[in-house]
Amino acid sequence: MGETATLTFGDQTIELPIIVGSEGEQAVDITQLRSTTGLITLDPGYANTGSTKSDITFIDGDKGILRYRGVPIEQLAAQSTFLEVSYLLVEGHLPNAAELAVFESAIQQHTMLHEDMKRFYGAFPKDAHPMAACSASVGALSTFYPDSLDPRDPRQVEVSIQRLLAKMPTLAAYAYKHSIGQPFMYPRNDLSYVGNFMHMMFGNPCEDYEPDPVIEKALDLLLILHADHEQNCSTSCVRLVGSSMVNLFGAIAAGINALWGPLHGGANQAVIEMLAEIRDEGMSARDFVERAKSQDDTSRLMGFGHRVYKNFDPRARIIKTACFEVLESMGVHSKLLEIAVDLEEIALKDPYFVERRLYPNVDFYSGVIYNAIGTPSNMFTALFAMGRLPGWIAQWQELHESPDFKIARPRQIYTGEIERAYVPIEKR
Ligand code: CMC
Repeated sequence: MGETATLTFGDQTIELPIIVGSEGEQAVDITQLRSTTGLITLDPGYANTGSTKSDITFIDGDKGILRYRGVPIEQLAAQSTFLEVSYLLVEGHLPNAAELAVFESAIQQHTMLHEDMKRFYGAFPKDAHPMAACSASVGALSTFYPDSLDPRDPRQVEVSIQRLLAKMPTLAAYAYKHSIGQPFMYPRNDLSYVGNFMHMMFGNPCEDYEPDPVIEKALDLLLILHADHEQNCSTSCVRLVGSSMVNLFGAIAAGINALWGPLHGGANQAVIEMLAEIRDEGMSARDFVERAKSQDDTSRLMGFGHRVYKNFDPRARIIKTACFEVLESMGVHSKLLEIAVDLEEIALKDPYFVERRLYPNVDFYSGVIYNAIGTPSNMFTALFAMGRLPGWIAQWQELHESPDFKIARPRQIYTGEIERAYVPIEKR
């Protein structure tokens, strides 16, 4: 037996194995804890709990390291494309040219939606949030493809993955088009993944549309940076829901809902709304920072803080640089970017944020880019979902291929009433 941790409880002493990861991370293996001692562990928010071993993404929160399948995020951001990164996450290695061509072509062949899906969108109110529309429509894909729902059939899984990656931009763009009352744009398979999304979002049937290469590159970069982040809230949700053996579409729909919340992916929308509020109310950045610190005010500095990153978020650094480059090359002067820079400068020197180790996260500057290229704020989180999709898929696949596979079923410590008799209503 390798290294162990010793636990003494009552008159019992047991040895708990230590599991060591490939980057030296250590965990106490408690799989036999309850059967040997009757104890369970309690860890609200799972801040100390590893739910799985995983080969996909490595994060070192203290050093600001993020790697997909071992490749540093900085290298992927500078040299790769979103579809290549998707392949890397899903297949586990960087593709050669032939493998990438086959992967891209398979995805291109599935971009259209079933025509009946349009009627589905027609039933949503115009002001439906795109994340609600996306989760509902991804869930609804399972009604259109009953031929590919078995999580244990590799061919069915493969085609579900292709369908999801291909159709997600179409689903997201349709949600937007419906909200503004414009006709849905059929996908164009001669364009890149992102170029096609831009055509479906910003094009209309009356005019030719060619994606601006600067914006196309910026959006592709943002998708790469969002592509996976190990066991975050939405990914854990995809794994937990997936562990019931539900099909891939059902598990991903659940992940989309988890991502929507403002403490998770919904923060990108919340950040831009915060910046706009500061601008529109003529508030100073310093006043807002004071408000975010106040115990009497529920406002937080959105886009700041992270459960894992405690020195900096490497994605935020890359996005900040890209933000300046994109706005400059578009000739856009953004008041919102100015406010964001002020907020960051003030917060990074403020003892409240320094002591709590709160830094800008991935969502702090991404919305400024989305905003500058004309994306409405309620679509920001749908773009995050498009980016996170290959990560969710890879994690769902890994769960199903794991020899440790079992349904996720946490326990609890019950703190309610102890047994008491039922009292008939007339006697209460
Ligand atoms: N503004 C002001 N105070 C904050 C902030 C913030 N953004 N974030 C954390 N704090 C304070 C918090 O009030 C607490 O203070 P105290 O110890 O006095 O009670 C302390 O810092 C620790 O915060 P926590 O909420 O216990 O930390 P957590 O690890 O549970 O939460 C977080 C992490 C990301 C949910 C949180 O920092 C937050 O709410 N940030 C704002 C929302 C946001 O930007 N979310 C995006 C996260 S990154 C992308 C993603 O996950 O999708």
